[in-house]
Amino acid sequence: MDKILVTGGAGFIGSHVVDLLVEQGKEVIVVDNMSTGSYENINKDVKLEETDITDNRGLNEVYNKHLGIAGVVHLAAQSKVGPSVDDPGNDANINIQGTINLLELCRKNNIKSFVYASSAAVYGHAEQLPITERAETNPLSPYGVSKLAGEEYVKAYGRLYGMDVFALRFANVFGPRQSPHTEAGVISIFIEQLLQGKRPVIFGDGKQTRDFIYVKDIAEAVVSCLTNKDKQASNNAVYNVSTCSETSIDHLLSNLCEIMEISNNPRFEEERPGDIKYSYLDNSKLKTDFNWEPRTSFKKGLEQTVNYYINKK
Ligand SMILES: NC(=O)c1ccc[n+]([C@@H]2O[C@H](COP(=O)([O-])OP(=O)(O)OC[C@H]3O[C@@H](n4cnc5c(N)ncnc54)[C@H](O)[C@@H]3O)[C@@H](O)[C@H]2O)c1
Repeated sequence: MDKILVTGGAGFIGSHVVDLLVEQGKEVIVVDNMSTGSYENINKDVKLEETDITDNRGLNEVYNKHLGIAGVVHLAAQSKVGPSVDDPGNDANINIQGTINLLELCRKNNIKSFVYASSAAVYGHAEQLPITERAETNPLSPYGVSKLAGEEYVKAYGRLYGMDVFALRFANVFGPRQSPHTEAGVISIFIEQLLQGKRPVIFGDGKQTRDFIYVKDIAEAVVSCLTNKDKQASNNAVYNVSTCSETSIDHLLSNLCEIMEISNNPRFEEERPGDIKYSYLDNSKLKTDFNWEPRTSFKKGLEQTVNYYINKK
């Protein structure tokens, strides 16, 4: 499988997936409408098609221009909770209709491999930790609903058309190139606040926990699924991609302050409605089926992320 189409390849996670695919000698075509992506992120060895995933004609033109695409990694999305609450129709159009468009492109052109970026947001408040793939899905936002709907389409196409499909539920991803202007990127937000000499804002008491995974470990999981599809588990195609460990927000901030040699003096603001208190995801299924594991420690990942933002200044 040598020619891969990556949607959202100019974005945070997508650009790291693209880099890894290129490193492995793949020919990569990026489809991105550049709404949140950045030209700086794009690997110089790939072809960028500035196309919107809601534009079927545009997607067909991309396929016809790059005949022989063997697999799709679908990361392009409306990826924020807030805008999904403000405009659920737009969120659904990009995340659900856009996913269907990509799946249809695959069906019509006999592209058999499809990796889809889902999210821990599909779970909502969990009854038990760590959250396994068997846990109930109760998304709290239109974003969580659209990601879950996308998963269901992906699985249905797998069953209907014998495609090798994977829906990967990412935990909280962090690392270089994450925009500090997204609500999800608490690490990049803290780093930016600290570099600007501002006091980082913690919503709630700081004891809430998240499962932070370094972006290069996510990229390895995506590429493992894409290239080792024969190892796919038989039951279904859904996998958590996580570290299976929880880190509190105050612990994260104290780690960052230590690395940056800045005193730790956050401002506390009211907890945000709908915020989940504790969350971390079981990753044993992906580990067992793909021999994958997260290789970057939290500390190392933080150091690399801090260095990236310092050098970018
Ligand atoms: N970052 C996280 O912590 C996280 C966690 C769980 C799931 N995810 C999922 O991973 C994927 C990538 O997220 P990210 O953090 O890299 O976000 P990102 O915003 O950095 O990347 C998304 C990319 O998709 C492009 N895009 C958006 N709408 C498009 C459209 N209609 N047509 C074509 N391109 C479009 C953007 O320009 C951008 O380059 C998303 O599907 C997101 O839902 C991310």
